[in-house]
Amino acid sequence: MKQNQPHFYRGRFSVAPMLDWTTRHCRYFHRQFSQYALLYTEMVTAQAIIHASYDHLAFSTAENPVAIQLGGSDPAQLAHCAKLAEERGYVEINLNVGCPSDRVQNGMFGACLMAKADLVAECVGAMQSAVNIPVTVKTRIGIDDLDSYEFLCDFVEKVAATGCNELIVHARKAWLSGLSPKENREIPPLNYERVYQLKRDFPELWISINGGIKTIEEMKNHLQHVDGVMVGREAYQNPSLLGKIDQALFDENAPIITARQAVENMLPYIDEQLHQGIYLNHISRHMLGAFQNCKGARQWRRYLSENAHKQGAGVEVVQTALSFVEE
Ligand SMILES: Cc1cc2nc3c(=O)[nH]c(=O)nc-3n(C[C@H](O)[C@H](O)[C@H](O)COP(=O)(O)O)c2cc1C
Repeated sequence: MKQNQPHFYRGRFSVAPMLDWTTRHCRYFHRQFSQYALLYTEMVTAQAIIHASYDHLAFSTAENPVAIQLGGSDPAQLAHCAKLAEERGYVEINLNVGCPSDRVQNGMFGACLMAKADLVAECVGAMQSAVNIPVTVKTRIGIDDLDSYEFLCDFVEKVAATGCNELIVHARKAWLSGLSPKENREIPPLNYERVYQLKRDFPELWISINGGIKTIEEMKNHLQHVDGVMVGREAYQNPSLLGKIDQALFDENAPIITARQAVENMLPYIDEQLHQGIYLNHISRHMLGAFQNCKGARQWRRYLSENAHKQGAGVEVVQTALSFVEE
């Protein structure tokens, strides 16, 4: 596992934070495909960590490098949570300034914070003072009518003034009312050029681009203009894409990992988790897309979906499902 990687490796390719999707089991699966990819947690709110009914920071360092994404807008609370996360072994703290859901807006965090650049800067500064690992920000190119390039530059300038030098930019704006979070990932048009321009105007910043990226070729094209690419839905729905990343973007001698290899590598982990009381489908639901475009993919999905939730379901369910697939 490539831990303590030089900067080049840490941010060049990442899998986006996705609520309910990039759980610890999902990240463990994704890690089987790529040693280099930086993996993000789902967003965890500072409130949830502080008033924890369970351990929101639990993860296995075998998933590393993992960045934790925090949601919140209280500098002291965020700093406290950042410190806890650093102690647990996460390699980066990321602040969510991109999520447009109502729940998030009521809590005054997520994308609505784009309109409060001074507060974001205060939060980032407080976290930076609390930890030695990088503090980064994931944002959009604008919100509502605040969508000019000047507005984005002003936001970035204020955040960068804290010493934060890494931003991930989802290359579309968010409408804070009227669109669901899902629609906000599809309807506002992508504007990659704006993110490229940001990199040209702030060359000292590490800028990663996010939104609608699906192929290695697209990633390589983006990397001509920016420092990193972050992929969300395609990585989750078609994880075998991740098996090609190390060779394509990091090390030409790295192996390509097939979905079958990745699934087989999961079996000891699944067995161990089942012994700890985790249900098989909490892990296997993240593996359904593994064999996209392979013969038997449908049977793989169907067998897992129909059997993984059953009482006592174990690794043999995954092994049987695997026997239907021809790669
Ligand atoms: C199911 C789902 C949950 C998401 N949850 C988060 C989240 O917790 N934090 C966040 O910053 N973005 C979240 N996003 C947005 C993604 O991180 C990403 O910015 C977006 O999907 C665009 O990238 P893509 O086109 O590669 O999927 C979520 C996206 C999806 C599909």
